[in-house]
Amino acid sequence: MSASRPYVTLISEMTVDGKLTLKRGLSSKIIMGLMDMESQRFLHKKRTEFDAIMVGSNTIKIDNSILTNRLVEGRSPVRVIPCSDASIPPESNVLNHDAPTIVVVSSKADVNKVQAIREKGADVMVCGDSHVDLDLMMEGLVKKGIKRLMVEGGPTLIWLLIKKQMIDHIILIQIPYIIGGDSTPSLVGGPGVDSIDQVVGTELTGFYKVGNHLITEYDVIYSPNGK
Ligand SMILES: NC(=O)c1ccc[n+]([C@@H]2O[C@H](COP(=O)([O-])OP(=O)(O)OC[C@H]3O[C@@H](n4cnc5c(N)ncnc54)[C@H](OP(=O)(O)O)[C@@H]3O)[C@@H](O)[C@H]2O)c1
Repeated sequence: MSASRPYVTLISEMTVDGKLTLKRGLSSKIIMGLMDMESQRFLHKKRTEFDAIMVGSNTIKIDNSILTNRLVEGRSPVRVIPCSDASIPPESNVLNHDAPTIVVVSSKADVNKVQAIREKGADVMVCGDSHVDLDLMMEGLVKKGIKRLMVEGGPTLIWLLIKKQMIDHIILIQIPYIIGGDSTPSLVGGPGVDSIDQVVGTELTGFYKVGNHLITEYDVIYSPNGK
């Protein structure tokens, strides 16, 4: 872990075959409906253990995520949304007042859209010129006191974070169903690695059952050949 970024844990609900949604472009809430109550409570309990929770802007547009803890005792984390052009709709659930929200934009973002987000009460952080600069974003989050950051997706943001060696720990909630589909999003998106020496290693640090779901935990190892 670096002092210039929070400790980052990826927590994701995925099917036995590694899928995050029923089809590309559909909300993950559909498959989350397959989760039993124990595993939903587990996810919400995890949210209470972090200073902040982050998802990509496309997840906000497709899922209209709320990202709060609503099922167990405990506070909700600060919500962080990287969105270079400030294009998340002002009526998005994530801009409600149930928890603080930070929207991270680039300097190219339309001032009126930024203003509309600020008027909803969110904090807007400007990091980078064309796209959100993830290094600057992480430094900014540390300055705001965020030491432990949970990432819930989607696959594009996860790929970008993995590529920048910014994910330290992974907790997977395995939904006991199979979906299939060549183009159905799986845990990590993006172009993927080009050769075997670029694979990212993991070390299994725990496995247990919650309800009828298998939970696996991994530390991520960034070294040549993932070893
Ligand atoms: N099952 C689950 O646990 C789960 C969880 C979350 C999401 N999902 C599913 O995942 C899907 C959405 O995932 P997605 O992969 O399409 O989108 P996403 O990861 O939610 O959003 C893409 C993110 O990548 C950022 N980005 C793209 N290029 C970038 C760059 N060069 N530099 C910095 N940031 C960059 C985007 O920011 P800009 O706006 O700045 O481009 C955006 O924040 C939905 O179907 C959702 O249901 C499933």
